[in-house]
Amino acid sequence: MSDAALAQRALVTGGAGFIGSNLVRFLLGRGLDVLNVDALTYAGNLDSLADVAADTRYRFARADVRDRAALERLFAEFDPQLVFHLAAESHVDRSIVAPEDFVTTNVVGTFTLLEVARRAWGDDGARRFVHVSTDEVYGSLGETGRFSETTRYDPSSPYSASKAGADHLAHAYHRTYGLPVIVTNCSNNYGPRQFPEKLIPLMITRAMAGEPLPVYGAGDNVRDWLYVDDHCEALWAVAQRGKPGRDYNIGGDEERRNLEIVQLVCAELERVRPASDNAALGGRAYRELITFVEDRPGHDYRYAIDAARLRDELGFSPRESFESGLRKTIGWYLDNARWVERATSGAYRDWIEDNYGARLDR
Ligand code: NAD
Ligand code: DAU
Repeated sequence: MSDAALAQRALVTGGAGFIGSNLVRFLLGRGLDVLNVDALTYAGNLDSLADVAADTRYRFARADVRDRAALERLFAEFDPQLVFHLAAESHVDRSIVAPEDFVTTNVVGTFTLLEVARRAWGDDGARRFVHVSTDEVYGSLGETGRFSETTRYDPSSPYSASKAGADHLAHAYHRTYGLPVIVTNCSNNYGPRQFPEKLIPLMITRAMAGEPLPVYGAGDNVRDWLYVDDHCEALWAVAQRGKPGRDYNIGGDEERRNLEIVQLVCAELERVRPASDNAALGGRAYRELITFVEDRPGHDYRYAIDAARLRDELGFSPRESFESGLRKTIGWYLDNARWVERATSGAYRDWIEDNYGARLDR
């Protein structure tokens, strides 16, 4: 598809979540009309969209991707040319504690959306359904090697297994019905508006509050990190120039051990908001908050992405380095104390107690 032939109406599911809210903003910035379909679970946050809520090209519909009738209505009204499917239960630790919603939202919800799109779009091959998935479907790497699009699926957690199931359905809808589906498998995102249950915002917000920084195991697990704006650019490249039926791996080429990340967060906070000026630290340095806790069950050791296909076929490479992205991210959390305060009140506190209470008491 050339730029000129590009779609004007994009339906984003999960647009009130971390990546979704950044993607909605990105698409509006490119002149598209955007319909955000989100059930507003604990992870959905309309505060993240406050600055675009009045944009006449933006519309929000509170709906569940498992609700077929609601999706049919929205497809009929909005007639999207593009779908970016991000709605999901996304947190691995929660999938270990309570897997059911992961199966119903990630597998059944994806099925429902695929089915509604297939019936609404018929055989219109100019539409695009971008199914946003994860590198976790490939399982765990040792010290060497990288995931490519041909790596065998081998998911470890209920979360990654549910995403793998959804990916298979997405491919099946292309092969069986010719639905123009593209699947993307991306590494760990970070950046503004990420719910503070994930490693980086959890560490930033807890360090600022002078609370222990829970590092699982020895902190030597490795993840590949991608700044969220780069993920949005990659999804846009895929929607414009990707080939239906194909997978694209998306990565940052920025592998880091977890402990190194937590130490970098502490060092950057010390630079921009010295612990000596932060009463919550009570005279301690940020790094003194680092606490090694019981490991995550089934914890994948290492993820690394071979993104050659995205680079060679679609000309995409990430712009942000990990160090500059982390600085921007920390700056955003420091500048948005009200967002953090609202996101970390209420049910969030129950999650912190459930997941970390016993681990930190040991
Ligand atoms: P998130 O948890 O921040 O947001 C998920 C959003 O989906 C929320 O707004 C939530 O309200 C909504 N949602 C959940 N269940 C729903 C349902 N049944 N119906 C409608 N909406 C529902 O997630 P995220 O980190 O922004 O991830 C978005 C997508 O990208 C997910 O599909 C995830 O698997 C994938 N992904 C995430 C990462 C990452 O590092 N965060 C990396 C690769 C892929
Ligand atoms: O790889 C892509 C995936 O990245 C996405 O599909 C998921 O939606 C997203 O949540 C993320 O999964 P991870 O499990 O890698 O992210 P998380 O931030 O939960 O953890 C990152 C690493 O940090 C992991 O090795 C576990 C570790 N960790 C995490 C938390 C929350 C800790 O050591 N302590 C913690 O408190």
